Amino acid sequence: MTEVSPPADLAIETRGLSKRFRHRAAVDGIDLAVPRGSVFGFLGPNGSGKTTTIRLLLGLAAATNGHIRVLGGEMPRQLAAVLPHVGSLVEGPAFYPFLSGAANLRRLDSADLHASPSTRAARVDEALERVGLSHAAGKKVRAYSLGMKQRLGIAHALLRPRELLVLDEPTNGLDPQGTREVRSLVRSLAAGGTTVFVSSHLLAEVEQMCTHVGVMSVGKLVAQGTLHELRAAGTATIRLHTPDIEAAVRVLSRLGLQSELSAASHGSDGQSLVSTGSPGHDVAPEAIVAALVADGVRVRGFGVENASLEERFVSLTGEGFDIAG
Ligand SMILES: Nc1ncnc2c1ncn2[C@@H]1O[C@H](COP(=O)(O)OP(=O)(O)O)[C@@H](O)[C@H]1O
Ligand SMILES: [Mg+2]
Repeated sequence: MTEVSPPADLAIETRGLSKRFRHRAAVDGIDLAVPRGSVFGFLGPNGSGKTTTIRLLLGLAAATNGHIRVLGGEMPRQLAAVLPHVGSLVEGPAFYPFLSGAANLRRLDSADLHASPSTRAARVDEALERVGLSHAAGKKVRAYSLGMKQRLGIAHALLRPRELLVLDEPTNGLDPQGTREVRSLVRSLAAGGTTVFVSSHLLAEVEQMCTHVGVMSVGKLVAQGTLHELRAAGTATIRLHTPDIEAAVRVLSRLGLQSELSAASHGSDGQSLVSTGSPGHDVAPEAIVAALVADGVRVRGFGVENASLEERFVSLTGEGFDIAG
């Protein structure tokens, strides 16, 4: 990467990135920060602006406003230096059904002016190997399953060594088997050190594949961070049974939790409190219990439930996410 500078620890960075179509903003001032080495899930319902953003990142469409850096290079100004390091799968790739997988890749490779013809066969073999299609190299693409076609599309993106892979809904339209194939491929690519930016409208999928997530809603990036951070930012519900209600309420409120007496249980050994709030990940259940005990609260029952990531996303985007897939 001699032409692209300086080395940054972000593979993708945008500032105020916007794209308007007539009067509507499909992408509305987003600040993305995709760490190198992450598998970044770009999550949002259909129509939330994922594909438009990806097209902007790759220089396939021009932004209305904002700045983009990909692998440290400003886009689209340094596009020619950046793109050879970026593999992408945006629209379903167009393969010739009457040619084999290997023959299709050889054709696509020959269209790449930077690719030496003498090493073509080896490059194609290696790309097929990486996506687990070596056994089907000579088979006509017509006979490929959807999952195999999608993996061939990823093999195309991998014909050259890549630092970053950008995949737009790579499991869309795949059956469960194809979906599993693509997910495990994404994980194995990431394990090899490639940064992967992958969009999806399926929360469960992002939870299974990704280390980081950015959530889109109506063109806006409404949250981003590690999966862990997003979970921790959600609401927790604490159930406490104690005879020392007043002291308990004081301690919990100090920790940022609002308490209510639970109607359910008023036993001879105390009363139950239900407390909710966003204590953050630095307040672990054991820390809450320790704080209660330190103030003389006799803890006779205790439990914590964290809001699921799904509840968190529903509250962020105002819609349900498919949990299937
Ligand atoms: N070329 C275009 N012209 C006009 N509107 C568009 C165009 N491309 C996308 N849009 C609109 O932008 C919004 C975001 O679309 P898109 O980026 O495809 O969302 P996603 O990939 O999250 O489903 C949608 O409302 C869509 O209709
Ligand atoms: Mg899309």
